[in-house]
Amino acid sequence: MSCCERIKSHLAGCRFFLLVSLTCFTALVLAPATNVHALQDGVLVGSHADRSVMPKGCRACHKGMNISLSGEENACFDCHSDASTREQAVATGSLKKNANFSLDDIAAELRKPYSHPVLTVKGVHRQLEDLPETVVNAARHAECVDCHNPHATDKEKPYQGLRGRREGNFIVEISEEYELCYRCHSESANRLGDSTNKHAEFKSTNPSFHPVEAEGRSTYVVSLKEPYVAVKERPKDISRISCSDCHGSDDPASPKGPHGSNYPGLLVLNYQMDDEFPESSHAYALCYECHNRSSILSDESFPYHSLHIQGRMMGLNGTSCFTCHDAHGSSEYQHLIRFNERIVSENINGDLKYDAQGTAARQGSCSLNCHGVEHVEKEY
Ligand code: HEC
Ligand code: HEC
Ligand code: HEC
Ligand code: HEC
Ligand code: HEC
Ligand code: HEC
Ligand code: HEC
Repeated sequence: MSCCERIKSHLAGCRFFLLVSLTCFTALVLAPATNVHALQDGVLVGSHADRSVMPKGCRACHKGMNISLSGEENACFDCHSDASTREQAVATGSLKKNANFSLDDIAAELRKPYSHPVLTVKGVHRQLEDLPETVVNAARHAECVDCHNPHATDKEKPYQGLRGRREGNFIVEISEEYELCYRCHSESANRLGDSTNKHAEFKSTNPSFHPVEAEGRSTYVVSLKEPYVAVKERPKDISRISCSDCHGSDDPASPKGPHGSNYPGLLVLNYQMDDEFPESSHAYALCYECHNRSSILSDESFPYHSLHIQGRMMGLNGTSCFTCHDAHGSSEYQHLIRFNERIVSENINGDLKYDAQGTAARQGSCSLNCHGVEHVEKEY
């Protein structure tokens, strides 16, 4: 049976069967064979395939006489927004009442101040578009269907069935969450001016990186809180983290995923990125989620951590982690060191650099100028 025949048999008895099969035929035949955004083998798989929950199958989303859908969020909000809209989906028979599932309000997340621009950008997403984007001045966008394939999304892998990973000359299906993000935050030709290539930051060949793509370079990171470790030895150890450990809702009771947050940077916890603010558990809550605050402030690794962070010098209130560390990775230095050049500049010799003495030596030196303080190969 061909793909479209399978769709026909799947839809047999359905009122708009002819229309659907015609459109499917065009869409599926004209689409490249590797297009996994199309229906896999002509049937739904994953969360939306359960007829006991969504009795109308295709017609839960493809309503009316026309199968074509724009890919905008409205089609999803029937079930994934507020409770009263969901009641309507139940009333029209698209959704089964009392079925065994939980549906959250994604729209509410997207309305938060720091969010993916799902609600604000309209009419930019194109069906079957290739991401990462190759057109330099293409408008940036992110629709639900850019992160979730409505025909294949799954509870364990909500991004299942999307393409975006480059293998030689081909763009193939992604399998890791970070590959989803790289569809738009790595080599995209239309990345905004001040936004960096995230793949370049997390690359496992860098001198240091947070362990998203692979285990980190350091073999012992003294401040880590259980169950986080540098090198996985016991089953309960966690030595790899994901983008959504740091990016997502500010409210742990809210649906998972980087939809929206009240914290700048679409972060799950607060992170003070400016200098001259007093240290507190709230100021650097994001880092203290995995790194023990008292270890950092008692200088177990960098002997001048507390001096800088708590600002016991020159009447300064405090230096943010962000001034010295990049939360993603560093293509230049060990220990995630990347100086914030809005604050840190060259010293009198024209040097701005960090020299570490191996991954676990706890020794190094800095050459720079910061808040008017000169460091000329200042050692620790
Ligand atoms: C959960 C909602 C949902 C369900 C259920 C669903 N679709 Fe879709 N479908 C969409 C959306 C949204 C698009 C537009 C995708 C885009 O723009 O990238 C789409 C696109 C399509 C396309 C256009 C080509 C393509 O692959 O992008 C075809 C054909 C299609 N659907 C057929 C079906 C059939 C047949 C079924 C039932 C077996 C079905 N869909 C079930 C939401 C759904
Ligand atoms: C007719 C109702 C309905 C519509 C319309 C609908 N969904 Fe769903 N969706 C569901 C149900 C039910 C589940 C399963 C929830 C569960 O298992 O707890 C689900 C699950 C999901 C999941 C996986 C997460 C999980 O918990 O399983 C994602 C992601 C998702 N939907 C995205 C979308 C997107 C994107 C659209 C629009 C293109 C859409 N949905 C349209 C009803 C719907
Ligand atoms: C389909 C494209 C797309 C995908 C996939 C995508 N993003 Fe985005 N993201 C955007 C766009 C567009 C913006 C708005 C800013 C811009 O244009 O870069 C954005 C902004 C952000 C921001 C900044 C938000 C703010 O308010 O400061 C973060 C953080 C982010 N994305 C993280 C992620 C993560 C994590 C993933 C993967 C789970 C991801 N993104 C996947 C398109 C995408
Ligand atoms: C350890 C926590 C952490 C992890 C893991 C993390 N981020 Fe971030 N991310 C941050 C912080 C903190 C900021 C804000 C400061 C900054 O811009 O560097 C940020 C900013 C961003 C931004 C907005 C600024 C910009 O440069 O465009 C994007 C987009 C982003 N991250 C994407 C990602 C992606 C994609 C991943 C996974 C591959 C990821 N992040 C993993 C902490 C993290
Ligand atoms: C930028 C990418 C992105 C966009 C845009 C996006 N999502 Fe998600 N969403 C994710 C990721 C990643 C996860 C899974 C996070 C995890 O499992 O930790 C997720 C999780 C979900 C879940 C499961 C929540 C849970 O608690 O299990 C649902 C349902 C969902 N998304 C629906 C939607 C709908 C509907 C839209 C559009 C209105 C949308 N998403 C837009 C990336 C995105
Ligand atoms: C979700 C958990 C998590 C969060 C949140 C987190 N980290 Fe980490 N961090 C880790 C893990 C795991 C490692 C071990 C990586 C390794 O072995 O190199 C690590 C290592 C580090 C290292 C040492 C890297 C090296 O190569 O020596 C620094 C510096 C660091 N983190 C800073 C931060 C800062 C700053 C923040 C807040 C913006 C932060 N971390 C937030 C989990 C986290
Ligand atoms: C003045 C620059 C500076 C500031 C500000 C700073 N750090 Fe560091 N940090 C360093 C240096 C240098 C090292 C490497 C020490 C070594 O040689 O092992 C380091 C090492 C680390 C490590 C890895 C070793 C360990 O302790 O586990 C973590 C984690 C870390 N810093 C977290 C933070 C956090 C969280 C903040 C903010 C609350 C912060 N740092 C602020 C310079 C700084």
